[in-house]
Amino acid sequence: MPYRVATVEEVRNLTRDIKMYTLSINETFNSDPGQYVMVWVPGVGEIPISLSLVDGETFCLVIARKGKVTSYIHENIKEGDKLYLRGPYGNGFKLQGGKALIVGGGYGVAPLLFLARELARRYVRSDVVLGFRSKEHAILISEFEEYADRLVVSTDDGSLGVRGTAVDVARQLVDRNIYATLYTCGKEQMMYKLVELALNRGIKTQASLERLIKCGIGICGSCVLEPLGLRVCRDGPVFDGETLLKTVDFGRFWHDSTGKPIPIEEVK
Ligand SMILES: Cc1cc2nc3c(=O)[nH]c(=O)nc-3n(C[C@H](O)[C@H](O)[C@H](O)COP(=O)(O)OP(=O)(O)OC[C@H]3O[C@@H](n4cnc5c(N)ncnc54)[C@H](O)[C@@H]3O)c2cc1C
Ligand code: FES
Repeated sequence: MPYRVATVEEVRNLTRDIKMYTLSINETFNSDPGQYVMVWVPGVGEIPISLSLVDGETFCLVIARKGKVTSYIHENIKEGDKLYLRGPYGNGFKLQGGKALIVGGGYGVAPLLFLARELARRYVRSDVVLGFRSKEHAILISEFEEYADRLVVSTDDGSLGVRGTAVDVARQLVDRNIYATLYTCGKEQMMYKLVELALNRGIKTQASLERLIKCGIGICGSCVLEPLGLRVCRDGPVFDGETLLKTVDFGRFWHDSTGKPIPIEEVK
C-alpha cells in the first residue's frame, strides 16, 4: 500500500506526555474503530498508532511520548506539517448489539473513543470506565461523556473519580448483569483480568493488543501470538477473549525484535 500524506490541522496537549493530532487527508478515510495506521517519519522511523476518531477526510491520533519516534513527533511535528501514513490496517472491534461495557486504561482509551461513538451512532448503549494513574494522566473524559450512558473514571491514587483500578470498577458493574459485550484496550495485565472476569459471567469480550509491529501486513512475524501463530498486525489488533486465552502470550509475554519472549510486566 502506498504512503499517504496527511496534514496536521491541530495539535492539542492532553497531558504532559500525551498529545492529540488532528490530521486531514485528500480522500475519504474508510476505517473501523480499533484499526491503526503506520506513521512514518522519514529519517526517524515508523510506528503503529490507533485511529481515535475518523470523520471523512479528517482523523485524530493520540500519541504518548515513549521513545525515539513518539518523542520526535512530540517535539517537532506542528500544525501545517506533514505525516506519512500506511493503512488503515488490521481487524478492529466488531460492533455487537446489546448493552456494552467499555473499559480503557491510559492512552489505551484512545481507540475506544472511536468505538464509543460508532456504537452510539448505531443506538447501542454503553457504559464506559476509564482508568488512569492520577488526575494528571487523565485524558478524553469530556469526549467520552458525549457517547456514554454512564461514565466512571478511576485513578490509582484517588485524585480524580473513584480510587482504584478500572478492573475494580468493572467488577462492580458486571455484577449488574446487564452487559452483552465488554470491549477493552490498555495495559495487558488489566485486559487479562477483564477478559477472565467477563467470560466467567458469560459476557463476550474483545480486547485490542499491542505488539512489536514492523511490517503491518502479516509477513515479518514480529507480532506473533504463540502457539496459535496469530499476527497482531493483521489478525488483530482486536481479538475475542476466548481466542486470547488459548495463547500463552496474552497477559504474559511480549516478543522483542529477535523474537525473544519478555515478561509483559518488564515491557516499558
Ligand atoms: C496496534 C497498535 C496501536 C497503537 N496505538 C497507539 C496509540 O494510539 N497511541 C500511542 O501513543 N501508542 C500506540 N501504540 C504504541 C506505539 O506504537 C509505541 O509506543 C511506539 O511504537 C513507540 O515508538 P518509539 O519509537 O517512540 O519508542 P521506541 O524507542 O522504539 O521504544 C519504546 C517502547 O515502545 C514499544 N514499541 C517500539 N516500537 C514499537 C512498534 N513498532 N510497535 C509497537 N510497540 C513498539 C516497545 O515496547 C518499546 O520498548 C500502538 C501500538 C500498536 C501495536
Ligand atoms: S508486524 Fe509483520 S507480521 Fe505482524
